[in-house]
Amino acid sequence: MNFRPMFSASLTRQNKRRRRIENTTGGGMAMSVYSEARKVTTHTLQEMKRAGEKITMLTAYDYSLARLVDQAGVDVILVGDSASNVMAGQATTVPMTLDHMIYHAQCVERAVDRALLVVDMPFGTYQGNSRQALESAIRIMKESSGHAVKLEGGAEIVESVERILTAGIPVMGHLGLTPQSIYKFGTYSVRAKEDEEAEKLIADAKVLEAAGCFAIVLEKIPRDLAKRVSAALTIPTIGIGAGPDVDGQVLVLHDLLGITMDFSPRFLRRYLNLAEEIDGAIKGYCDDVRSGDFPSDEESYTS
Ligand code: KIV
Repeated sequence: MNFRPMFSASLTRQNKRRRRIENTTGGGMAMSVYSEARKVTTHTLQEMKRAGEKITMLTAYDYSLARLVDQAGVDVILVGDSASNVMAGQATTVPMTLDHMIYHAQCVERAVDRALLVVDMPFGTYQGNSRQALESAIRIMKESSGHAVKLEGGAEIVESVERILTAGIPVMGHLGLTPQSIYKFGTYSVRAKEDEEAEKLIADAKVLEAAGCFAIVLEKIPRDLAKRVSAALTIPTIGIGAGPDVDGQVLVLHDLLGITMDFSPRFLRRYLNLAEEIDGAIKGYCDDVRSGDFPSDEESYTS
């Protein structure tokens, strides 16, 4: 495949978007950190928080969709271990392996021009000890060319976070609902509703910030708590089911597109009903093949 035309098409789109923003901000210099960032870095996200600009983040696991996500201007692409559910049909994220994550990250990396690419460290690759964590993070960075890694947990994994950071690998934290610990909690319900758990979550967030994390995902916690955490930190918080008072939002792409219809938590906003559209398209194709309508003369080659 020739990548050059796709690359220049994407630059043209970026330039058009830049011009649109410049026009709507009175011409001359673009006014936002978002529009200035040709390549999003961890520094860009911190600048966005300082400027009060919301950060956008979505998951991707394959080249074709990652290309669309990047070209649409999403700031952070997460190769989430939710690939375990979405791509592999597993009930939890626990079975995900480092090799699986690296494969998905390699596919996504080939598609990304602008976004910061964060790769989840899967269950069992960083909890054992900090040396194991560092080795796993180095494999992800070397083999996938991702830009950063994400780990679930607070004080209990801080030694691993610190060790990974010594190698110059940026780390994103993840607190609240941590799906890799599903068997400890037993449910995917809202976390930290009680004071004790809420105070621990705030303390964990401060520990992760002090250790050097560049951002923290807050999953499925009460909005007031997410607001308190976001105000207490200088690094950005990215919420999923954490309400509006965080520094950015993340969703699983297949949920937003309406492909995964059996998953309907309160926090999810679907922007498409792609499952229905795809069903209609596939049934249309089957009807056309069965009736002999497809392929037509125009869709056939002559000698
Ligand atoms: O794996 C994932 O998709 C995630 C997001 C839900 C934040 O960790």
